[in-house]
Amino acid sequence: MIPIARPWIGEEEKKEVEKVLDSGMLAYGEWVKNFENEFAKYIGVREALATTNGTQALILALEAVGVKNKEVIVPSFTFIASATSIIRAGGKPVFVDVEERTFNIDPEDVRKKITKNTKAIMPVHLYGQAANMDEIMEIAEDHELYVIEDAAQAHGAEWRGKKAGSIGHIAAFSFYPTKNMTTGEGGMVTTNDENLAEKVSMLRNHGQTSRYMHEFLGWNFRMTNIAAAIGLVQLKKLDKANDIRRENAKYYNDMLGDYVITPYEHPNAKHVYHQYTIRVKDRDKLVELFKKEGIGYGIYYPMGNHEQPIMQKLGYTAKLPVTEKLCKEVISIPVHPLITREDREKVAETIILHARNL
Ligand SMILES: Cc1ncc(COP(=O)(O)O)c(C=O)c1O
Repeated sequence: MIPIARPWIGEEEKKEVEKVLDSGMLAYGEWVKNFENEFAKYIGVREALATTNGTQALILALEAVGVKNKEVIVPSFTFIASATSIIRAGGKPVFVDVEERTFNIDPEDVRKKITKNTKAIMPVHLYGQAANMDEIMEIAEDHELYVIEDAAQAHGAEWRGKKAGSIGHIAAFSFYPTKNMTTGEGGMVTTNDENLAEKVSMLRNHGQTSRYMHEFLGWNFRMTNIAAAIGLVQLKKLDKANDIRRENAKYYNDMLGDYVITPYEHPNAKHVYHQYTIRVKDRDKLVELFKKEGIGYGIYYPMGNHEQPIMQKLGYTAKLPVTEKLCKEVISIPVHPLITREDREKVAETIILHARNL
């Protein structure tokens, strides 16, 4: 079986985790602080705050901005957590469509959906490619809105040479094992705003302002030293891992460009290919072939969040034509750094065979 994703874990991660275990300091401590400092440096922001996963990083960012009873504009074509985190923070997701070529938030639709009650826009850097941050920041400035970047899939991605997660007011990353870097489960909030960082830091730790003094309702969303030890090593490998992903993507572009719709890389963006996602008209047949050949694949996402049962129950009825079309056509193929040359050749040849036999 050729897996769709596989974490790149080696001896270095094991040794670093062993150091934590030997130290006896398993929970939030020195390793987490080092990881936060190194991650902030890498992204190019003043503050980075580690947390237990990407969903909770989003919730903390949204709560710090303050979206209670406010609207947050978010693309529908993303993982469910982008939307549910808004609800968990007391806000209301307002779904917008995406651009067909980039799969990312459509600035035109954002403009149409701003109301007096809008507080923030949440661009999602889907599949590892930054959304059009020029347009999003301009709209936000015009309407005095916050920009919360969902960078869960975009470690190392860039827009005009700036890292995803350093452009909006605040951002959230995920370190789930399928991501470009992992800590097992884990997440990070990044920001240049010291006030937002302080709020996140307190919310993450029971709303504590000084020892055992709790001024507002918080959570326990702290990362452990064990997770951070893995993250420190993973961060050192991230650029290399992303280079290999880009190399694999180039190979697929060259091989598959004549047969299926391959991903579009925006000239202002450095894509880090968290996913390499093609579009086909007859996805079910390709899935059948992948299953027969033992090729891992992913369908991200089979339906827009606005169509999910939970959102229907909450009364969402809007139609988003581009999202709905993409949901029927997209399929992601293995692009991770551990795929062998033979395996990626097998993936490409299977797709070509499929396309030729139609
Ligand atoms: C776009 C997006 N947002 C948020 C999340 C949530 O991250 P986590 O799974 O770490 O909670 C993910 C991860 O799967 C994601 O892909």
